[in-house]
Amino acid sequence: MANKNLNQAKNAKKDEFYTQLVDIENELRHYRAHFKGKTVLCNCDDPRVSNFFHYFSYNFEQLGLKKLITTCYKNQNRDLFSQNDSERAIWLEYLGDKNGDRVPNPEEIGIHYFNGDGDFRSAECIELLKQADIVVTNPPFSLFREYVAQLMKYGKKFVILGNQNAIHYKDIFPLIKNNQLWLGSTLSFAKFKVPDYYEERSTRFWIDETGQKWRSFGNICWFTNLDISKRHEEMILYKSYDAEEYPKYDNFDAINVNKTSEIPMDYEDVMGVPITFLDKYNPEQFEILGTSTMDMSKGAPYVGGKRIYERILIRRRKPIGDVVGANNDSPLQMPTQPDTYVHHEITTPVAAEDPESYNQNR
Ligand SMILES: C[S@@+](CC[C@H](N)C(=O)[O-])C[C@H]1O[C@@H](n2cnc3c(N)ncnc32)[C@H](O)[C@@H]1O
Repeated sequence: MANKNLNQAKNAKKDEFYTQLVDIENELRHYRAHFKGKTVLCNCDDPRVSNFFHYFSYNFEQLGLKKLITTCYKNQNRDLFSQNDSERAIWLEYLGDKNGDRVPNPEEIGIHYFNGDGDFRSAECIELLKQADIVVTNPPFSLFREYVAQLMKYGKKFVILGNQNAIHYKDIFPLIKNNQLWLGSTLSFAKFKVPDYYEERSTRFWIDETGQKWRSFGNICWFTNLDISKRHEEMILYKSYDAEEYPKYDNFDAINVNKTSEIPMDYEDVMGVPITFLDKYNPEQFEILGTSTMDMSKGAPYVGGKRIYERILIRRRKPIGDVVGANNDSPLQMPTQPDTYVHHEITTPVAAEDPESYNQNR
């Protein structure tokens, strides 16, 4: 029991990263239309430090929001490390500007007290979750699986920040495969303010002129189930299939593609592509079949006896004749009308963007 508490405390300690307003703005500008008339919940957010609260309260009228709810977790180990050090956990409710100054004044924000600690899994927080249309936050990474599972259980729309490692989780990848969750529009690099107790590091860490500690990550991304335009953009492919350039794996029946941009435009069977593919993924163009380890249960892929990084297995949805430029007679040919495509069922509406800057070949 003591060990469990210690582990929880250690994990919670690593969860204190405060998202920058610019990163929130850059992502959420792709979702503006979704927010009109909606109740937004930020449920891992101390309003004193949360830029999510800042963003939605200051843009309340512009976005046409109905209500903003923000819940603040009172970390039980707050004396050790957290900034969440108010006496009781609170939640805030903002219904928009009343006095015409278009600024969220303290008297316009309803402050309510929780009986518990404001844990997003508590009954009190779940009641607020039920009221919400869209949940937007950067949740604790140590609880990412549970966090996403709860959003799915209550059928919520969401835009949340996370670590790309989560893509490989056995309970997250199936959601990606089934088009229930996809990558957002921006970010592969992000910097976060961290509390004072964070230990100094030799890399990806600095202290600014005010004494504020910072950490940066190269593998941060947004996860969402809201439609965004990027998800409908078709990747322009220029390479042709060549058996030598795209060898088959030793241990399963698919060809290996080393770079997302080099997916051959004229190959109709299964292809293994790097994880960077997800940033370009348009479910009208490709279907995801699984990963080499998870769905094929074949372990890491091998080519010519050499082990390579895990791949996402995909297949094109449209027949080759529908690819712009696939017929080399006329590079300016118009694409075939959508109703002539082979149509596959897509479970949810779709959308995603890139910096091809994930760790290639993870
Ligand atoms: C990665 S930080 C992000 C904070 C804030 N959302 C932001 O983006 O600036 C995650 C936050 O979740 C809080 N947290 C940790 N466990 C929680 C829980 N069980 N329920 C709600 N919030 C929790 C942490 O205290 C931490 O402040």
